Amino acid sequence: MSNSNGSDKNGEKRNPVDAAKRRAAFYCAEKHVSDGCHLGVGSGSTIRHFVDSLAARFKEGKLKNIVCVPTSIQTRQWLLEAGLPVSDVEQTPELDLCVDGADEIDPALNCIKGGGGCLTQEKIVQSCARRFIVVVDQSKKSSRLGEHYKNLPIEVVPFGYASVKRKIEASEGGKCVLRMAKQKCGPVVTDNNNYIIDWEIPKEGSKDWSALHTRLVVIPGVVETGLFIGVAERAYFGMEDGSVCELV
Ligand code: 5RP
Repeated sequence: MSNSNGSDKNGEKRNPVDAAKRRAAFYCAEKHVSDGCHLGVGSGSTIRHFVDSLAARFKEGKLKNIVCVPTSIQTRQWLLEAGLPVSDVEQTPELDLCVDGADEIDPALNCIKGGGGCLTQEKIVQSCARRFIVVVDQSKKSSRLGEHYKNLPIEVVPFGYASVKRKIEASEGGKCVLRMAKQKCGPVVTDNNNYIIDWEIPKEGSKDWSALHTRLVVIPGVVETGLFIGVAERAYFGMEDGSVCELV
């Protein structure tokens, strides 16, 4: 276990980006997660820190009645290892709050998610929550989606990936790439046994993200897109100067 200020218990320094993620995650957990909370817990490296913060407060007896609904197999594992109470959307269909990371976030709090391939479960859990808060480091901030994180992750059923790819390229432009595993031994397979297509968002394309999501999600074979539009109530940015900025 380590503290929120960026150094481990053995005094080892974190890299500045990781330290910034940790600051945002700890700040959010302390400010918004209280005992009895029914909490959706996102996925990714920032959320790893969020789980650390929950675990520390749970051990102190401050979150005795918390219930956590994870958005990935990995997050579930982290929560179980930390001894936190774990549930799912069947047992706990109504959540007070969902906290997640993002790959990019614009000034209106619209997000691109899915860099870690968990977008479908993330969207399901977020949709069960009354409030949705995003925790990120400052590099995720952009003036327009697609500015820094050039691709939109789209989960597709394996049978349909080629036809989805062809249809998106024909109707929207840009290029779709099937996400491959790091070892290049085959496509990335999601927790739902699906594939991920990364669609390079055309610079000159429409900026009506809701309309774009609606067009993409009805293509046969598309399961979900990584566009989270109009759902976040606020975001916390861990800054490299040691502060945390809030965007509401
Ligand atoms: C996973 C996600 C993550 O929230 C996103 O990729 C951010 O990850 P990280 O906190 O590691 O930067 O959407 O599907």
